[in-house]
Amino acid sequence: MAIPEEVINEIKYRNEIESVIAPYVNLKRRGKNLVGLCPFHNEKTPSFTVYPENGSFYCFGCGVGGDVFSFTKLMENLDYIDAVKLLAERSGISLPEDSYDDSMQKMKSKILEINRETAKFFHQYLMTKQGKWALDYLSERGLALATIKHFGLGAAPDSWDSLINHLKSKGYTINDMIQANVVAKSSRGSFYDRFRKRIMFPVIDIRGNVIAFSGRAMPGEDKAGGKYVNTSDTLVYKKSENLFGMNFAKNFCADRIILVEGNMDVISLHQAGFENAVAALGTSFTENQAKLISRYTKEIVLTLDADAAGKKAVARAGEILKSTGISVRIITLPDCKDPDEYIKKHGKERFAAILEGAVSELEYKLLMAVGDIDVTADDGKLKYLAKAAEIIASNDDVMARDLYIGKLSDKYGVSRTAFQTKVDELRRKNVRTKEKREISAAIAPKYNPSDINPDKRLYPAAAAAEEAVIAILLQHPDFYEEASSKLSPDDMLTSLNRRIYAALLKLLEEGRAVDVSYFGEMLSSAELGFLVSLLNSEKGEKNALIVLKDSISVILGESFRKNSPDIKNMSDEDWAESMKKIIENKQKGKF
Ligand code: UTP
Ligand code: MN
Repeated sequence: MAIPEEVINEIKYRNEIESVIAPYVNLKRRGKNLVGLCPFHNEKTPSFTVYPENGSFYCFGCGVGGDVFSFTKLMENLDYIDAVKLLAERSGISLPEDSYDDSMQKMKSKILEINRETAKFFHQYLMTKQGKWALDYLSERGLALATIKHFGLGAAPDSWDSLINHLKSKGYTINDMIQANVVAKSSRGSFYDRFRKRIMFPVIDIRGNVIAFSGRAMPGEDKAGGKYVNTSDTLVYKKSENLFGMNFAKNFCADRIILVEGNMDVISLHQAGFENAVAALGTSFTENQAKLISRYTKEIVLTLDADAAGKKAVARAGEILKSTGISVRIITLPDCKDPDEYIKKHGKERFAAILEGAVSELEYKLLMAVGDIDVTADDGKLKYLAKAAEIIASNDDVMARDLYIGKLSDKYGVSRTAFQTKVDELRRKNVRTKEKREISAAIAPKYNPSDINPDKRLYPAAAAAEEAVIAILLQHPDFYEEASSKLSPDDMLTSLNRRIYAALLKLLEEGRAVDVSYFGEMLSSAELGFLVSLLNSEKGEKNALIVLKDSISVILGESFRKNSPDIKNMSDEDWAESMKKIIENKQKGKF
């Protein structure tokens, strides 16, 4: 680890795990630990556990775990170093520059500086006489000066090198500019500004960094590069993980967030007072974006364009959002392309009314199911009702089912009982399939250690014993001698345990204290969760030494069986050799 251990310890000491987690999770004391609803997956009963004793957390539901650093890393969407830095800052500890700022880190800060400088350059240009064309355009589109400033909008001059020259004058190299993706290299080897004669929208992350740009061509001038040109992924920007407007929306979206398609929609909505609007920039909605949103809000309203692509996007976003557990509602804007246009045409009050009446996903599905069925004809009615019955049957809310059974039977002139019977029938079928699925899910629980340690399927007995050894050593570092003298990492059969055990032995060999943070950079969040679950398991609570010894012999036995050659087909010399090994091991007391 690049940051000295003393510094890490100091940061941890000043950032107690309870107080780091408390702002995000409502924690209740349970014995010496604390529990709450996991912020990383949706649940109704708390399985997220905090262990103040050793500064760790673990979720029994999704398997995520770690220490204050890994919590901050996941929660704030940071990389490890940035999480350490954030906690250091919060507790007033300054990190020695050279010890952590590796070259990657330096490059990242440089890109952020360049982006900020570039945003300033574009904004200043927008405000000059030469930038009047852009300011006129934005005013024409109804944006107030305050809104333009709020979003830091700007414009790129109609020039191939004005940004290059500006950034040069500020001391940045061409390579830095390329890394930030504001400058590109032509096939002839010359360099040019990527954004030219475009309205510029800076993309700002939840910490206030300018991480990317989106540039809109003037109407009728989108031949080269398309209507929008966006920053490609850089060291500081992954488009699938960010949302335009989230830097503002995060403070206004506790109850509801509005997902729209375009940056202009976000800006228009914010200007009209809907500061909880965000957009996925130039991509379809991704799982990472869903995760980001689900940390901040309870409900998402989708307002995607009413064209075919928009409908597809609604279906996709709905599907992705389902797994996060936040509720999804959908609005369709009558006779308008997008929210920006709607607000301009009908005003914010009407938009608010539509928002309040946003249809539920169920209603939306029922509306969409009509498709091109001719519901005025009898066979069309029946066809639609069959589809509708399927949709209603798959909804788990009994009131909602009842409501729509009533509405649709009325509307299409069938008896309520008949339609109800149809839905019930389908529902019983669904429930049976669901039960089957739940039973198999219970047998193979959602978080299964063998997912992160696939070898566990091959060697279940050895893996269990390995887990016991690791758990006991984590809890009783004084058994280091006992373990290391009998069991070497290579004896372990499963790769994850082997990796953890090797690292653990090294830690103990150096006489250092057992600490989750030591593993923070080496293991993934799920692996770290697994480690924390061992650290806090009951495996080491009773008869630890006996369990340790027994586990070691189980592992050695399994390892021997795995490696023991096929005796029948062995040459005499090989047989003698392998017997010798067994006898030696016995004498060493390994068995
Ligand atoms: P739209 O074409 O609907 O644009 O694309 P818009 O937001 O309504 O823009 P205005 O109102 O015409 O100014 C929706 C979003 O898709 C992305 C952009 O993020 C845009 O805001 N997009 C669109 C691109 O990334 N590239 C394109 O060429 C077009
Ligand atoms: Mn638009």
